[in-house]
Amino acid sequence: MELERIFARAWNFMCHESQIPKAGDFFLNFIGEESVIATRDKKGELQVLLNSCRHRGNAVCRAEEGNARSFLCTYHGWTYGLDGSLIGVPGYKDFYHEQLDKSQWGLVKAGKVASYKGFVFATMDPEAPDLEEYLGPVGRIGLDFHAARGELEVVGGIQKNLLGCNWKLAVDNIYDFYHAQVSHASAYMSGFRRIRDPNAPETPHYLKLTFRSVLGDYGHAIGGPKVTPEMLDMLEARGEKKTSMLGRELWRREPGAAEIMGPVGIEAGGHPGIFPNLWVTSNQVCIRLPRGPMVTELWWFTLVDKNASEQERSDMIHQASHNFGPAGMLEQDDGENWDQSTRAAKGVVAGRHPLHFGMGLGAGEVQHIDDTTFIDSPINEYPQFWTYLSWAEWMDAASWADLKRNHTPAPVTGRV
Ligand code: FES
Ligand code: FE
Repeated sequence: MELERIFARAWNFMCHESQIPKAGDFFLNFIGEESVIATRDKKGELQVLLNSCRHRGNAVCRAEEGNARSFLCTYHGWTYGLDGSLIGVPGYKDFYHEQLDKSQWGLVKAGKVASYKGFVFATMDPEAPDLEEYLGPVGRIGLDFHAARGELEVVGGIQKNLLGCNWKLAVDNIYDFYHAQVSHASAYMSGFRRIRDPNAPETPHYLKLTFRSVLGDYGHAIGGPKVTPEMLDMLEARGEKKTSMLGRELWRREPGAAEIMGPVGIEAGGHPGIFPNLWVTSNQVCIRLPRGPMVTELWWFTLVDKNASEQERSDMIHQASHNFGPAGMLEQDDGENWDQSTRAAKGVVAGRHPLHFGMGLGAGEVQHIDDTTFIDSPINEYPQFWTYLSWAEWMDAASWADLKRNHTPAPVTGRV
């Protein structure tokens, strides 16, 4: 039901434009569990095509990425152009007697395809609102976290790994700053994560920081520590650079960053999530792809500044692999917990007892500035509650029209 009501309806992240710069470049991705080809046609336009031949359904593209002039089905040889049109049918004259209307049998195309500052998305539902409207201020701030840093490109090699949990648990964790001290204790002990080391004299205790939760329509959210001017002063005083892991927040002081991010976004230091399954973090983005109810596949894309020096580029890649690579310091810990949470919670008896979702409930004061809803408070679970509420509304809705009409807009006042 989620595949139908969420993934086949939502805008899904496909790739970054830097991955498919030229005509014929393609990148294979998924919408829910269905393979799609994100490509650039001869006119330079972005296309997202369902990777399933219209004859007997075979996949027409097997490579994860590359450059092609057309997509040839390996079963009987139907051939499709880069825009999905059916251009070749073996035996068209002798076997089909020229009675096959090729214009009706092209690959199924996405309902809408669009790019926001280089991030390419597609929806299978033509009734979906346009991408910028779908993202709203919160989704746009989320992507601006990267876009505001300058011209970016995805480095080759998407890191992919499977975890034994439902995709929603991997999304819940995007906003979870409660777990880091415990789950990632070894990363802190190793010295790898120093910036918020609670024992460093100049750093306030991590758990005592103010957290900024930002809530947007349709389930987009941002959650994590607020980045104050004092914190940036401290980084500057230490001589950190914005290309280093410790100094990366200093991009917020670059000319133009405050205008792009707006007053709420410029101090939101946490993790943006674009509903349903895109996580924007440090110099990476990750999609949490469903692989049945009990398995999630993570795809990590690493973005680097196009103008970075060789050394800076290599540092950023090193950092990305060490954070969230399959052998990184953080995702290893998280995956282990999610796998065990899934095993332990799915039992008959365990299923009779609710889990606790309620941290900070009723204690958060909603603020609304620049068309954006946020709550500044101690560590909390507001973005998770918001995501689950939105999830339920997506699941209830019969169509986009229904969802537009009946979804809960982000609150502008009151308590959460
Ligand atoms: Fe593709 Fe037959 S399944 S040509
Ligand atoms: Fe984690």
